[in-house]
Amino acid sequence: MSKMDVEKIRRDFPVLNQKKPLIYFDNACVTLKPRQVIEAINRYYNEFPSCAGRSSHRLGRMVDEEIDKTREVVAKFFNAKKTDEIIFTRNTTEAVNLISHTLPLKHGDKVLTTDKEHNSNLVPWQLLAGKGVKHAVVKSKSDGIFDMEAFKASLDNDVKLVSMVYTSNLDGVTNPAREIIKIAHDHHALVLLDAAQTAPHRPIDVRALDVDFLACSGHKMLGPSGTGILYGKAALLESLPHYIAGGGTVIDTTYESFKPEKVPERFEAGLQDYAGIIGLGAALQYLSKIGLQDVERHETELNRTITDGINGMKGLSIIGPADPVLRGGIISFNLKGMDPHEIAMLLDRSANIAIRSGAHCVHSWFNAHGMKGSARASLYIYNTKEECSVFIEQLKKVASLVK
Ligand SMILES: Cc1ncc(COP(=O)(O)O)c(C=O)c1O
Repeated sequence: MSKMDVEKIRRDFPVLNQKKPLIYFDNACVTLKPRQVIEAINRYYNEFPSCAGRSSHRLGRMVDEEIDKTREVVAKFFNAKKTDEIIFTRNTTEAVNLISHTLPLKHGDKVLTTDKEHNSNLVPWQLLAGKGVKHAVVKSKSDGIFDMEAFKASLDNDVKLVSMVYTSNLDGVTNPAREIIKIAHDHHALVLLDAAQTAPHRPIDVRALDVDFLACSGHKMLGPSGTGILYGKAALLESLPHYIAGGGTVIDTTYESFKPEKVPERFEAGLQDYAGIIGLGAALQYLSKIGLQDVERHETELNRTITDGINGMKGLSIIGPADPVLRGGIISFNLKGMDPHEIAMLLDRSANIAIRSGAHCVHSWFNAHGMKGSARASLYIYNTKEECSVFIEQLKKVASLVK
């Protein structure tokens, strides 16, 4: 077992310390929040519920300071060169849309994605068809692993952007980002990584990756709901126009014109979710203290326990590679003859186990495979081997109900 003190971690999560034991396996959707994050949010509302970047009174200056500090925490978390490379968004979806709306893609240019994109990294590119921007899909191998040869073959001169999921929320597979980026750059294409399922679970070094843009969600990594991050290389971000325009995004205006702010302010329009941003900073500090390498190790161990425990169960099929090491903290599965929603409902009723069911916003993949969806258990730092055992036992009972 990793050196993480899971029992100590669990004590930090109020919802895990209620009377009725909760087995929370829906972490790929949203994680639970530790008291350190809740306290950081409360501190903002209790002590300095004011706005940043506008007011020179004491409370305003306190918010300024906290937001600057948080940007530093985020930059350090991802090893960004400058704090200006960090833009606060509401979620991954908004971060991807910021790029899809501002990157100067023109008629005939092509955006490359994989066949396992969340709708948030699919629809923004499909919407560009209206201005003649093409979209192509690199198919994964039959077990969900990234197909490097297929990727290389897809890189023609029209490809200007590779926008890819880093870790899939469908099957937990992490794509070889460093190699993908190197090859894309050799073909003069930029790379955006959808790191919504990577940032919470393994270390990311944007400089070592040499990635151009990276998007993730705070609420999937212990942070408050409605918080997200867009990382971008400074020169690239500086070259982009406004996305949402208005207060805070301009230096000056006349009735006829405006002078855009520098980055990151240009992209943070209107009053921001200061409490959320500050809470996000507390979340990243909490994760850094544990160490992302240990987080990854812990999840892999739990995934192995579950995979070993459910393998061979009648009618069971797991989406993605057989080896749990290749699926991080995700077990996406089906039981032949039972709707995934029914599996989720039965587990919820029988033992207060929360899993997700459905298409997980990856409808395109399920449609292409003639499937309706799956049941998905996704793990995190506070999950235990004992919880995995209860899950296995309860799933066996559910499977026995299939005629
Ligand atoms: C891989 C992936 N990308 C994007 C998203 C969208 O995240 P959000 O809803 O926070 O924008 C998710 C959410 O589940 C995801 O798993």
